[in-house]
Amino acid sequence: MSKISAAITAVGKYVPEYVLTNQILETLVDTNDEWITSRTGIKERRILKEKGKGTSFLAIEAAKDLINKSNLNPKEIELVIVATATRDMQASATAVYVASQIGATNAFAYDIDAACSSFLYAVSTAASFIEAGKYKKILVIGADMNSSMIDYTDRATCIIFGDGAGAVLFEPNEEGLGLQDEYLRSDGTGRDFLRVKASGSMYPVTKEAIDKRENFVFQDGKTVFKNAVFNMADVSEKMLERNNLTKEDINWLAAHQANKRIIEATANRINLDSSKVMMNIQKYGNTTSATLPLLLADYEQQLKKGDKIIFAAFGGGFTWGSIYLKWAYNS
Ligand code: UT7
Repeated sequence: MSKISAAITAVGKYVPEYVLTNQILETLVDTNDEWITSRTGIKERRILKEKGKGTSFLAIEAAKDLINKSNLNPKEIELVIVATATRDMQASATAVYVASQIGATNAFAYDIDAACSSFLYAVSTAASFIEAGKYKKILVIGADMNSSMIDYTDRATCIIFGDGAGAVLFEPNEEGLGLQDEYLRSDGTGRDFLRVKASGSMYPVTKEAIDKRENFVFQDGKTVFKNAVFNMADVSEKMLERNNLTKEDINWLAAHQANKRIIEATANRINLDSSKVMMNIQKYGNTTSATLPLLLADYEQQLKKGDKIIFAAFGGGFTWGSIYLKWAYNS
């Protein structure tokens, strides 16, 4: 019997309708389109405005898009993993609610949170179950409503983040396609450089914390930038070396969309031509767990069976890593 690998067989996406442009941000904080574009590559982001809706709404819509496009019977899904850093609420996994709402009533479900690396970590988990022969249909959704934790008076963070979701289905493959290799890392000494201080058990949300605006994202941009550039480039280069791949072998780089300069630095380290670098940061900003599946959804029509894709991400924690995957279908 041939070895079972874990392949992506369908993708879906959702971004909210409201477009927060650089021009609108100019009216909220002391910034300008030229600064944001040259420092980050971002032109606009999508924001979920409706009251009473959270990350689950984004995840459900992305999953429905995948289900409709692929004619998947949701009852056949065995596991739903929601990769997110902005779960709907504490002590109740968002994935569980999402699974019920999309009709995946035979699935079990849970969240994975590793900040901007959440999607890669979730892919690793899903692929392991498939490779082991334990499950045959696993839905992985990367979804984040970053606007729920952004201070729109802080120009250092409000220009970066947006809301969105992307979904992928993992199934067994016997042609050697799908996930080939992974190299995932973490370093907890970095956690104070990018975090929401008052949000969990250590510093619960109190009136005092709100007065100090500690319920919003804080980022030491320079430190995160340096670590992101070094580590994303490092793991991508390692992934090529470990798999005896040259730049000619690679069809695509799918890098976490945090900053255009970080993506370009990663591509430069592995000498990849810009035509092979997936990019949609200009439209959505940094959507945390959703950046990588949103790239797949936006580039799906251009992807060919057998294409070799290098994924790379870096995020809060710190967490980072790279995955090498062979695309499994033509659209
Ligand atoms: O997804 C998780 C991982 N996150 C990341 O990878 C993000 C990593 N960091 C970054 O992308 C960049 O550090 C930022 C885009 C956040 C900032 O860019 P930077 O080139 O590192 O700028 P900086 O923070 O060093 O600030 C440079 C200057 C400062 O002014 P002075 O001190 O030189 O006078 C800032 O006050 O730019 C100023 N500045 C701004 N000016 C206009 C900071 N934010 C803004 C702004 N508009 N929005």
